[in-house]
Amino acid sequence: MENKDQNSTVKFFSGRQIPLEMHKVRVVQALNLKPVEHRLEAIREAGYNSFLLKTKDLYLDMLTDSGTNAMSDEQISKMFVADDAYAGSGSFSKFEKAVLDVLDQKYVLPVHQGRAAENIISQTFVKEGSVVPMNYHFTTTLAHIQANGGSIRELFMAEAMKVKSDNPFKGNIDLDKLDELIRVEGVEKVPYIRMEASTNLIGGQPFSLDNFKKVRKLAEHYGIMVVLDASLIGENAYFIKKREAEYAGASLGDILKEMCSLADIVYFSGRKVTSSRGGAICTNNIDLFNKMKDLVPLYEGFLTYGGISVREIEAMAVGLMETLDENMVGQSPEFISYMVKQLDSLGIPVIMPGGALGCHVDAGQFLPHIPQSEYPAGALVAAYYIISGNRGMERGTLSSIRDENGNDILADIELMRLALPRRVFTLSQVEYAIDRLNWLFQNKELVGGIRFIDEPPILRFFTGRLEPIGTWPEELVRKFRKDFGDSL
Ligand code: F0G
Repeated sequence: MENKDQNSTVKFFSGRQIPLEMHKVRVVQALNLKPVEHRLEAIREAGYNSFLLKTKDLYLDMLTDSGTNAMSDEQISKMFVADDAYAGSGSFSKFEKAVLDVLDQKYVLPVHQGRAAENIISQTFVKEGSVVPMNYHFTTTLAHIQANGGSIRELFMAEAMKVKSDNPFKGNIDLDKLDELIRVEGVEKVPYIRMEASTNLIGGQPFSLDNFKKVRKLAEHYGIMVVLDASLIGENAYFIKKREAEYAGASLGDILKEMCSLADIVYFSGRKVTSSRGGAICTNNIDLFNKMKDLVPLYEGFLTYGGISVREIEAMAVGLMETLDENMVGQSPEFISYMVKQLDSLGIPVIMPGGALGCHVDAGQFLPHIPQSEYPAGALVAAYYIISGNRGMERGTLSSIRDENGNDILADIELMRLALPRRVFTLSQVEYAIDRLNWLFQNKELVGGIRFIDEPPILRFFTGRLEPIGTWPEELVRKFRKDFGDSL
């Protein structure tokens, strides 16, 4: 169904600003909301790590938008006409065409998800001692660059760490710092500059096209490649249209193409940008393509399926075409903006302005009595699950790493991310999420810290197990019962 020409920013007679959905829901999945005592038991079994919770114990799964965005009827239907073939699949030709039409990139390497693209790019270009400057890291990006002997430098603007800000482009890179870094380290140590669209770990914050154009100019001056992580490119393009005056009249398609034209390599997680599974590395440079190509059959699968089902390749192709639709791309940012404004009006510290992917609560300010060494963002995620049944994700020190002496590298900012995958939740569910967070904010002194009891050495946040320091979870449950009676 086409709805590109419609405008979801209708005015309400009441004057209230409410995002209006431009889709209807025709396939649904039942949810449970278990009693608070059950939730306490479930988080205990999950080692106070929301990644280890089971969906049967959840109400709203706000862990991530990765592979959890709602798919369109077009996507699902195309999955049934997929051309199953080990090599030369017609589904892949459709995907190549979509990449050319939407991102203006000629050569495509399909991979099973975003980090597989990072593996191939890092193995090809990162060497022992390489330094990769970027606006901000993503967890898997950092892990792959380090695994190949490189390190990263995050050259964000000071404003990026200001929780409540009116800066529309907190994902911009600091150009002076970038220039200085290249001069100090030397061009030969910098394999590429990485720009991440809708910078995930600082609250889904976009960069401007003005900033990106200047990055490109600097890169050309030094003869350094630019790599664009386009996992959240649709939202970044949407924010450029809404927030960068020069592009107010541009179409999303024009903005997407201009963004990609500034990069030598564009890669993405299909789990995010195309609301499906999979991922890809794209380029217009045949030499770069040839340098990476042979790693696809080695790690992923043949060049026309990349380790995923061709059904997902079909879904990626349609999903990519749908990123031209402002109503589709704008749905999650508009819900996030609504949620962020409501939370802010309740005095709850939340990243502003609202970005892509989810609503990001500042756990440092929410729980000022918990030191970073006791993982305030992880504690907030656990406490919020106990009192709401909703699952968020820790994006703070727990998701960080240790230094060579075994000390935690403290995160720049402690965040609880409450993801709003595209077209998945209703506004009443968002209201419930706000209501329970408000109650927790009123009772925040009841929440204590957590500590590791089992800590994996790599990407510890995925499977590590923790325990509460003290008996705060039981006290939280007691207060919940006192205030809510027998309500769920
Ligand atoms: N780059 C960005 C900006 C991402 O947000 C992600 C994943 C990846 C790369 C890796 O892609 O998961 O397909 O391997 N983000 C997910 C999240 C995991 O929950 O934010 P992947």
